[in-house]
Amino acid sequence: MQRHLITSAIPYINGVKHLGNLIGSQLPADLYARYQRGRGNEVLFLCATDEHGTPAELAAAKAGQNISDYCKEMHEVQAKLAEGFCLSFDHFGRSSSQENHKLTQHFAGQLEAAGLIDEVRETQIYSHVDERFLPDRYIEGTCPECGFEDARGDQCDNCTKQLDPTDLINPRSSISGTSELERRETKHLYLCQSNMKKKLEDWIDGKTDWPILTTSIAKKWLNDGDGLQDRGITRDLDWGIPVKKGDNAWPGMEEKVFYVWFDAPIEYIACAQEWVNSGKGKHWESWWRTDQGADDVTYTQFMGKDNVPFHTLSFPATILGSGEPWKLVDYIKSFNYLNYDGGQFSTSRGRGVFMDDALDILPADYWRWWLLSHAPESSDAEFTWDNFQGSVNKDLADVLGNFVSRVTKFCRSKFGEEIPSGGDYGAAEHSLFENLTAQIRAYEKYMESIEIRKAASELRSIWALGNEYLQSSAPWSVYKEDEKKAAAQIRLALNLIRIYAILSRPFIPNAAEKLMTAMQCDDWSWPKNLEEALNKLMAGSEFIVPEVLFQKISDEECENWQSQFSGTRSKGD
Ligand code: 2FM
Ligand code: ZN
Repeated sequence: MQRHLITSAIPYINGVKHLGNLIGSQLPADLYARYQRGRGNEVLFLCATDEHGTPAELAAAKAGQNISDYCKEMHEVQAKLAEGFCLSFDHFGRSSSQENHKLTQHFAGQLEAAGLIDEVRETQIYSHVDERFLPDRYIEGTCPECGFEDARGDQCDNCTKQLDPTDLINPRSSISGTSELERRETKHLYLCQSNMKKKLEDWIDGKTDWPILTTSIAKKWLNDGDGLQDRGITRDLDWGIPVKKGDNAWPGMEEKVFYVWFDAPIEYIACAQEWVNSGKGKHWESWWRTDQGADDVTYTQFMGKDNVPFHTLSFPATILGSGEPWKLVDYIKSFNYLNYDGGQFSTSRGRGVFMDDALDILPADYWRWWLLSHAPESSDAEFTWDNFQGSVNKDLADVLGNFVSRVTKFCRSKFGEEIPSGGDYGAAEHSLFENLTAQIRAYEKYMESIEIRKAASELRSIWALGNEYLQSSAPWSVYKEDEKKAAAQIRLALNLIRIYAILSRPFIPNAAEKLMTAMQCDDWSWPKNLEEALNKLMAGSEFIVPEVLFQKISDEECENWQSQFSGTRSKGD
C-alpha cells in the first residue's frame, strides 16, 4: 500500500471563495485524494483557512467584527461549503491554531540557531492616531509618477507603478485618514534565502517530472534574483503569530507578528497535529518526519500559479534551513486561472459565481464535473454558461445518466428488479472487455500523473462505451428472440453501472454513491481485473432503479443564471 500526503493551498479567510479559487487547488486535490483512496492507498488529505495578514484584518474591519470572531465564523462558513462540495479533507484546520503558533515559533528558532535570520533596521511609517506602524497597503497618497490621488503604498492603481509608501506625496492612513504620520526606525527579521540558493536549485533540478508550469515559475524566481532576495518574515500587526524563538521571547520583537506567508505553509504540518489533537488521527509524525516513517510518503501539493514561488522557494527554504528531518514536497501540481464569462473572477469586485451561490442553484457534482473536466492546466480556461450547460447535458445527462436509466428501467420491465440470470457473454462482450480495459488503464495513467482534463476525457469515453454497447447489442430487440442472451447483456450492463460508480467517484462522488446504492452493493474495490469485476453482481441479487441522476439544464435556466450572475455580488464578504 502506498502512502499519500496531499495538501491544498489554504484559502484566505476573507470571504466565500469563487469557483476559480476552488478549481485552483481544493477541488483537484480532492480528486486526487479520492482517487488514491479508491486505489486502496493510505491518504492524509489536509487543508485549512489562512487567517493572518492584512486581508483578514481589512475584511474583519469591513464586517465590523473583532478579528478573532470573524475568523472563527468564516472558518465555519468555509468548512460547510467544503462539505457541500464533498471536499474530503481528513482535517480542515486553521492557521491561527495553537499548533501553528508553536510550530511557526519553533521554525523561527531553528532558523535563527542555524544563522539564517538577519535583524534588519528599516524606516517605516508610524501613525500616532492609529497607534501603529502601517503596512504598505494601509497608506494612501498621491502617486509621484502620475499624480493619481488615491495611490496605495505598494502600487499605484492608475499607472501601475510599484511604490514604496515613502514615495507617496501627502501620505495618509487608510484606517483613520490621518496624515499625522512619521517615519520611524524599526527592526524586522529577514530569512536569508539567498544563502540557500544552491541547495534549492539542486533540489528543483532533481524534480524532472514536475509540470512545466511549476518548474518554469520556480526557475524564473530562482534566476531573476527576485525570488531569492532575503525575505522579511515579520510585520507590525496586532493579529498574527507573535514573534518568538521557540518558547523564548525575541528581544526587540515583542510587538511584532510573523508575516502571513511565513506561517501559512507551516500550517500544512500544524494541520496534521490538529488532526491528531482533534482525536481523528493517530500519528502525525509518520507523515511529516522522515526519521519517523515519512520517508515512504509521497507528498503532493496543489495550488494556483501565483502560489508557486512560496512553495518552491520560501517554504522549502524554511524546511531545509531548519536542519531537521521534515518531509519535503515530492510533486507540485499548479494551475493557471479560470476566467468568468469574458473577464476575471474577482473576490474584491464580487464578480463570478461563488461557492455558496453555486450550491444554491445546482448540486455539487454538476460543478465538480464541469470544473474538473475544464481544469486550467496548460493555459487559462473560461467558464461560460453555454459551455457549462453543454457539458452537463451531454456528458452527465445524455451519456452517463441515460445509460443508467435505460439499463435499469429495461431490466425492471422485462426481468424485474434483480440481476437477470442465464445466457453467456459472446464476441461483442469480449470486445467490450478489451476496449474498456484499455480505456480504464489510460484513465488510471492520467489520474496517476494528475492530468485532469485527459482523465476526464477517458472517463467520458468509458461511459460512452456503455452506450455504444447498448446501442449495438440492442437487448430490447434481442429479447424478442433470445431472452437468455438479452439477460446476459443486461447483466453485463448492470455490472458496468457498479464499475462506473467506482471509476467516477473521484469526480462525482454523490452520483457514484447513488449508483452503488441502486446496485445494492457496497464493494468499491478498484476494477483491476475487469472481467472479474464485471461478474461481481451475481444473477438473482436485487437492485433499485435510481431516481434521475442528472437533470438537464434548460435554455431558460441558463439565460436566467447568466443574467443573475452578470453583475456584482451583493453578499458582504
Ligand atoms: O493564495 C492564497 O489563497 C493563499 N492563502 C495560499 C496559502 S497556501 C500555503 F502556503 F499555505
Ligand atoms: Zn501613478
